[in-house]
Amino acid sequence: MTQSPVNVTVTGAAGQIGYALLFRIASGHLLGPDTPVKLRLLEIPQAVKAAEGTAMELDDCAFPLLAGIDIFDDAKQAFDGANVGLLVGARPRTKGMERGDLLEANGGIFKPQGEAINAGAADDIKILVVGNPANTNALIAQAHAPDVPAERFTAMTRLDHNRAISQLAAKLGVPVTEIKKLTIWGNHSATQYPDLFHAEVGGRNAAEAVGDQAWLENDFIPTVAKRGAAIIEARGASSAASAANAAIDHVHTWVNGTAEGDWTSMGIPSDGSYGVPEGIISSFPVTTKDGAYEIVQGLEIDDFSRARIDATVAELVEERDAVKGLGLI
Ligand code: NAD
Ligand code: LMR
Repeated sequence: MTQSPVNVTVTGAAGQIGYALLFRIASGHLLGPDTPVKLRLLEIPQAVKAAEGTAMELDDCAFPLLAGIDIFDDAKQAFDGANVGLLVGARPRTKGMERGDLLEANGGIFKPQGEAINAGAADDIKILVVGNPANTNALIAQAHAPDVPAERFTAMTRLDHNRAISQLAAKLGVPVTEIKKLTIWGNHSATQYPDLFHAEVGGRNAAEAVGDQAWLENDFIPTVAKRGAAIIEARGASSAASAANAAIDHVHTWVNGTAEGDWTSMGIPSDGSYGVPEGIISSFPVTTKDGAYEIVQGLEIDDFSRARIDATVAELVEERDAVKGLGLI
């Protein structure tokens, strides 16, 4: 092994997603089979002991690529030298909590983490925010890291992307590998827009292959957009293994590139493309190469898609204005 280890900081390491995520990072699924990793785990003080337990299990796997594990309850230390940051820990909404309370509580987490990233992360830092509300939490962290290029802050819509591929493949009775160019637009929330009009199935336009606008509107879109709530209802806890899998996919694609003739979905700071206000962190179709991403340009957006994109973007603008009003950005 010639490469020096990549420092991967994971917040919320003792949580459900953390438990499903860390073993796959350590076994090489995040960065590939030739890249050793050092894990830097961040937890709140009360959960450090549980994180230590997970670290013992990681040790017990004797992963050849795992070059070390450090555990912190201080964000500055956890992000010191980080090359990749997976921001999973967040404040969940609890009974009686208003939206503003939720945004404020998360501001208390993502503001200091943004500052810590600004202070000590490596020059090539790449951030993925998983903790909800993911897009706006990413915006808060990014606003407090003025020395880090804004495009390094991303939010996860890859789980929605994977869910949409799976639903479409099941509808058409084709393998998931037949489906390309799926896009999730907007927010990781029930307003998101999973777009089949630019997707392809075996080289054919996906919306045409489905040929059923009623299914698309009344079944496909709500099923994908409300899947997170359906999982919570069924499991009694939010998605964990599939969320961890999507986080692995997101970073792996960012680092290793999209396949020729395909793209993926990432929540990224808007450059104004497709009429999405500059600066908000919104999901777009992107291609990736050499560790950088680009928004797919030139897609024709019809009235149906325009209305859906506008609705989810309006929600992101509202969230941005709310955190601005709270002095969090
Ligand atoms: P969890 O409650 O099991 O774990 C969260 C962990 O974060 C806990 O161990 C907690 O101690 C820790 N934590 C809280 N504040 C922290 C801080 N300031 N620093 C470090 N750690 C902190 O939750 P989970 O199931 O692992 O989910 C984590 C988040 O991911 C939630 O916000 C959830 O809604 C979100 N999520 C997002 C997606 C997505 O697609 N973007 C999908 C699923 C879940
Ligand atoms: C998901 O999409 O599964 C989660 O974001 C749901 C949630 O609220 O944690």
